[in-house]
Amino acid sequence: MNVREWFAETVGYRFFGCCYNATTQPLFDYLATITPKQFLGKRVADLGCGDGINTLRIRNIFRPKDIVGYERNPFLIERAKRRGLTMCRTDLNVSFPKCEMGIFMLSLHHLTDKKKVLKQAGKNFRFLVICEPIQDLYHKLFDAGQPLSRAGWIELFGQTLKHYQCFEFRHTIIAFYQRSSA
Ligand SMILES: C[S@@+](CC[C@H](N)C(=O)[O-])C[C@H]1O[C@@H](n2cnc3c(N)ncnc32)[C@H](O)[C@@H]1O
Repeated sequence: MNVREWFAETVGYRFFGCCYNATTQPLFDYLATITPKQFLGKRVADLGCGDGINTLRIRNIFRPKDIVGYERNPFLIERAKRRGLTMCRTDLNVSFPKCEMGIFMLSLHHLTDKKKVLKQAGKNFRFLVICEPIQDLYHKLFDAGQPLSRAGWIELFGQTLKHYQCFEFRHTIIAFYQRSSA
């Protein structure tokens, strides 16, 4: 764990939750306009769900049958539970849930081996939504994770998911993957 990660885990998330979400509503407004209808009404795993603010936004857009938040940080889990969400304490670097649909909302870039994780996610979920920051100066200086460049994300998706629909909103790349057997 690097210094920025340690600071986010023990100080930032503990006292401020996912405070960056004060600025992320426009991403969700955009997501609502591009979500394919076959991604609606599924059983959803929100992977690395943070304090649950965005889990609620995801619930509004995707209208899932049910949604469970997976998270490793105990302070964030408590905050999400206080929002009435069902939570499961999990380290996604170690184990990975199986469900109809998975969502990485600004969380995949925090995981150690993105390629391994996405390969597994492609097997464990029939539907997958990925919204991740594209590397820029801000993320280079301040992000506790390791976002990829636009080309890096596209190369990773090509290697692991093959067929997916890709969009971009400001500095976020958005991918919808549906397993071909679905
Ligand atoms: C930038 S936050 C995004 C949180 C949330 N998805 C959102 O949109 O607000 C990254 C999240 O990934 C979680 N995370 C990082 N590594 C993790 C791991 N190995 N297992 C589970 N969660 C992890 C962090 O604790 C944090 O909640």
